[in-house]
Amino acid sequence: MQSYSLIAPAKINLYLEILGDRSDGYHELVMLLQSIDLADQIDIRTLTTDNIQVNCDHPQVPQDETNLAYKAANLMRKQFPDAFAQFGGLEITIKKQIPVAAGLAGGSTNAAAVLVGIDLIWQLGLTQPELQELARELGSDVPFCIAGGTVLATGRGEELSPLPDLDSLYVVLGKYNSLAVSTPWAYQTYRFEFGDSYIQDTEDLEARAAKVHSGPMVKAIANKDGSQIGQLLHNDLEKVVLPAYPQVSHLREAFEDSGALGVMMSGSGPTVFALCESLSQAQEIHQQVRSTIDDPDLDFWVTKFCSNGITIV
Ligand code: C5P
Repeated sequence: MQSYSLIAPAKINLYLEILGDRSDGYHELVMLLQSIDLADQIDIRTLTTDNIQVNCDHPQVPQDETNLAYKAANLMRKQFPDAFAQFGGLEITIKKQIPVAAGLAGGSTNAAAVLVGIDLIWQLGLTQPELQELARELGSDVPFCIAGGTVLATGRGEELSPLPDLDSLYVVLGKYNSLAVSTPWAYQTYRFEFGDSYIQDTEDLEARAAKVHSGPMVKAIANKDGSQIGQLLHNDLEKVVLPAYPQVSHLREAFEDSGALGVMMSGSGPTVFALCESLSQAQEIHQQVRSTIDDPDLDFWVTKFCSNGITIV
């Protein structure tokens, strides 16, 4: 039996701008993605049978072929049938720490870990670009999750330009346990409400992405200037998610009143994060917001930026 354990970090979006429509039905984006220390553990081992089995004790995570981790293993089976025949089936156990349907790429990072783990078990020796090429087929955030760190992402979110590491900042995440936002719903609603303002011309799309690349947020990241980063946080999806989920809006206001460097919803939400310069500031803000909104349904995590994607335990 061969086995590997991998750590799969979550991400937050420091910046998410929706530029326009794509011919494949997705949106053209420009994003700044940041890995954080909040992570799942993925254990992968070979089986003597020839099936793919996913185990997870989290009630909201499916254990069937709809799980993105299963899809990742199935993709590897299709791409490398000889290795699958040689090594046998796979058991994937997900130890969940990252909240589900939260805008933190929990499913995507699990899928990324499965690609990395199977590459190791089957001794394929795939390069990071090769793994990222496979990852594109599974979802827009999966290529980022392989390498992690601080990255400018364009296209669907799968074209990646790594930026200097930014691992000295902390975040407090807040999420209502019972709230989940559908990513397709958020994007479709955005298209319905704001589609009129989409950029149509390919050259203009490229120019806009390049402008963000040379713009103030990327400069603030290069300078590791936490207060500037905090002021420049941006997420277009807030425009549709906050009005539809007043609780999230209220949580965001409570974080804003707490004196954080900046506050933003991550991805399609509903997780809201407060950017902090130190662990003590993050702990203080956590306590303050917890006492302002006394709701047992509201969960918090205090965590740190990190510069890695999938790592082997
Ligand atoms: O790629 P992924 O499966 O994570 O995307 C989930 C959904 O988010 C897509 O089905 C689509 O509705 C929306 N999306 C989009 N444009 C992107 C990324 C995601 O419209 N660039």
